[in-house]
Amino acid sequence: MSDAGERLSVVRALRVVPMQRRHLRAVMRIEHEAYPRPWSSTLFLSELSQRASRRYAVAVVGPRVVGYAGLMLVEEDGHVNTLTVDPVWHRHGIGTLLLLDLARVAVTRGARHLTLEVRAGNEGAQALYRKFGFAPVGLRRNYYSETGEDAIVMWARDIDDERYAARLALIEQQLRSTK
Ligand SMILES: CC(C)(COP(=O)(O)OP(=O)(O)OC[C@H]1O[C@@H](n2cnc3c(N)ncnc32)[C@H](O)[C@@H]1OP(=O)(O)O)[C@@H](O)C(=O)NCCC(=O)NCCS
Repeated sequence: MSDAGERLSVVRALRVVPMQRRHLRAVMRIEHEAYPRPWSSTLFLSELSQRASRRYAVAVVGPRVVGYAGLMLVEEDGHVNTLTVDPVWHRHGIGTLLLLDLARVAVTRGARHLTLEVRAGNEGAQALYRKFGFAPVGLRRNYYSETGEDAIVMWARDIDDERYAARLALIEQQLRSTK
């Protein structure tokens, strides 16, 4: 199968559902592969217990967890706390589908803006965020203490506007199209 064909079949097989405690074993496996300083399962459990101000979702293909994402809502702002895809499943549109979920849930829950921090050297993630309308607005020096790397602070503004809904619809349409 071509790369595009394989990607499309993954996108079609994929479901994004709320994260539950039973997903944590798989989430922790991916977390440890993805980050030099992984979150603990205690931290995930604490996040999951704050349902009113959080959205945590997993991407599943059949029974397999292939990625996850988390959002914290503070008044009009949605803070993307994490977005992580199993390394063997990168570039199949999974990060895009997870971010679509967070952005739409954020709007549904009354958020007007989205923000996040991303490693200055993480160009792949920055490219994904730019597609979602995030723009860099500042730098936090030595934000990642384990490596001393800087964080770029990005914001996507006015996500409650219909133009942003149209942007999300276009992103999803492109992902699900056969071309
Ligand atoms: C960032 C991350 C979540 C992206 O997930 P993904 O499922 O691979 O992303 P997608 O397949 O949806 O990619 C969508 C677009 O983002 C951009 N992109 C994603 N990864 C990229 C990379 N490594 N290099 C360049 N562009 C990239 C591309 O524009 C891509 O579209 P394309 O494949 O049609 O070119 C994933 O690489 C990851 O988990 N990385 C480790 C953890 C991490 O850094 N998370 C972000 C913390 S801020």
